[in-house]
Amino acid sequence: MQNADEYAESPQPRRITVERDGPMVVEGPVEVVTEDGTVAVSRRFAVAVCTCRRSAAYPWCDTSHRARPPRSRGRGEDRGR
Ligand code: FES
Repeated sequence: MQNADEYAESPQPRRITVERDGPMVVEGPVEVVTEDGTVAVSRRFAVAVCTCRRSAAYPWCDTSHRARPPRSRGRGEDRGR
């Protein structure tokens, strides 16, 4: 694991791509610490981190987010006006 000084000297910031109603795609390798302290490690070039918490492979996305209905885009939008 890198310390704070090593991160400060990194030539490129780590890129995280946020997908609407989907995962965050993080350039790897990466460690994710879950709320119970479990550390998940991915050494892949890029990994999708689950933001919906429906993944059976949490914290990694397993595409379960695709099964949920689209989020309301604004107040009253889903009220059948
Ligand atoms: S974001 Fe894909 S399963 Fe949660």
